[in-house]
Amino acid sequence: MVIDRHEDVTAAVLQAMSTTPDPRLRRIMASLVTHLHAFVRDVRLTEPEWERAMAFVCGLGQATNDVHNEVILASDAIGLSTLVCLLNNGNAGNTETAAALLGPFWRMNSPRTENGGTIIRSPTPGPALFAQCLVRNARGEPLAGVEVDVWQASPAGMYENQDQTQADMNLRGKFVTDTEGRFAFRSVKPAGYPVPTHGPVGELLAAQQRHPYRPAHLHFLLLQPGYKTLVTQVFVDDDTHLGSDVVFGVTNRLIGGFHRGEGPPPAPDAGPDWYALDYTFVMEPGEAVLPVPPIK
Ligand code: BEZ
Ligand code: FE
Repeated sequence: MVIDRHEDVTAAVLQAMSTTPDPRLRRIMASLVTHLHAFVRDVRLTEPEWERAMAFVCGLGQATNDVHNEVILASDAIGLSTLVCLLNNGNAGNTETAAALLGPFWRMNSPRTENGGTIIRSPTPGPALFAQCLVRNARGEPLAGVEVDVWQASPAGMYENQDQTQADMNLRGKFVTDTEGRFAFRSVKPAGYPVPTHGPVGELLAAQQRHPYRPAHLHFLLLQPGYKTLVTQVFVDDDTHLGSDVVFGVTNRLIGGFHRGEGPPPAPDAGPDWYALDYTFVMEPGEAVLPVPPIK
């Protein structure tokens, strides 16, 4: 079809794409083009604004490398990752879910660590944290043999792969639940941190006068055959940014109880300032598949 006016463009593109054999791809692209064209008409996008938008998308790719994923960060900062997460977990978004966005810092192959062991692999400041967790299904039955990946930023606000001063895989570990569905580990109490702001996402946040902070949290990825892989985060309950997470990851279900330890710590070298976390993870039936790691 030959185009005369702007109104003709959408129909021409939809017609051109209608030959797509894969029905899901056909539906996704038709809907995307329809909404994108409607958005352009709605805001009457100018040519300089279109150029700026293209430069923004190019910048996301250019700022992405083996240790940093600016594309995922952009998806997170506009709520896209959380929307997809909540739509696909917890009964198609109709009930509360235990899932949260993966974020850009999950790495494959974190070190296997014995149940109760530490994920501190190089000197790391901050109060000691002793986490005791239970994994069960919706019927309340404990799940044994679940592989649990844990990762967190240091209290200085950096993941080990962003920070030369930390050992490789510091504050990352992989555990397996015992016969009672439990796993435990030692770490440091996480602190809130700003997401990376050196790229186009940082520029956008500044232009929107948004702060770049995430409330303090631990990340978890739980894998068990017969269950939907549970990707989630547990947030520190006294953080001031719980209601304004820059990437919209906080749900009420995910705010953990980080209790100030009383009495002698579980390990003698922990010092008097220590915390305990008790948390229960609930896995939904489904497929055990690993996400594509955003970084190497
Ligand atoms: C994170 O928690 O690791 C994270 C999530 C989204 C964007 C940046 C960092
Ligand atoms: Fe994080």
